[in-house]
Amino acid sequence: AVLADYQAEDATISQGAVESNHAGYTGTGFVNLDNLVGSSVEFTVSAAEAGPVPLTIRYANGTTGVRPMSVTAGGATQAKDFPPTGAWTTWMETTVTVTLAAGQNAVRLTSTAADGGPNLDRLVT
Ligand code: GCU
Ligand code: CA
Ligand code: CA
Repeated sequence: AVLADYQAEDATISQGAVESNHAGYTGTGFVNLDNLVGSSVEFTVSAAEAGPVPLTIRYANGTTGVRPMSVTAGGATQAKDFPPTGAWTTWMETTVTVTLAAGQNAVRLTSTAADGGPNLDRLVT
């Protein structure tokens, strides 16, 4: 499969803001989700064929607590934890596998705890 890079700052943001005050992001910034349940970023991910696809999410979590989110794609929702990275300027990658349809797919990451999700940089397939 061809690698594709989806920047969070170019995605559809609900209850969050594009920021650039913590170095180390790729693209032009990152999304700081509001610290509440339900803040979200929705990516439109292209798949050549139907089936499972690993999504690599680059994020930072400068707290000492896990930031949990849900990942919704293709009508299915799964939980995904984002552990601490040590600092807001330390970015790490984690992978979640979703089942996509051929063509364009909405992939939505939604905060599931009151602290909100981590800061999100990008998603790579
Ligand atoms: C700090 C940090 C933000 C982060 C926020 C949070 O304010 O500067 O980038 O999003 O903490 O706790 O979510
Ligand atoms: Ca935040
Ligand atoms: Ca980015």
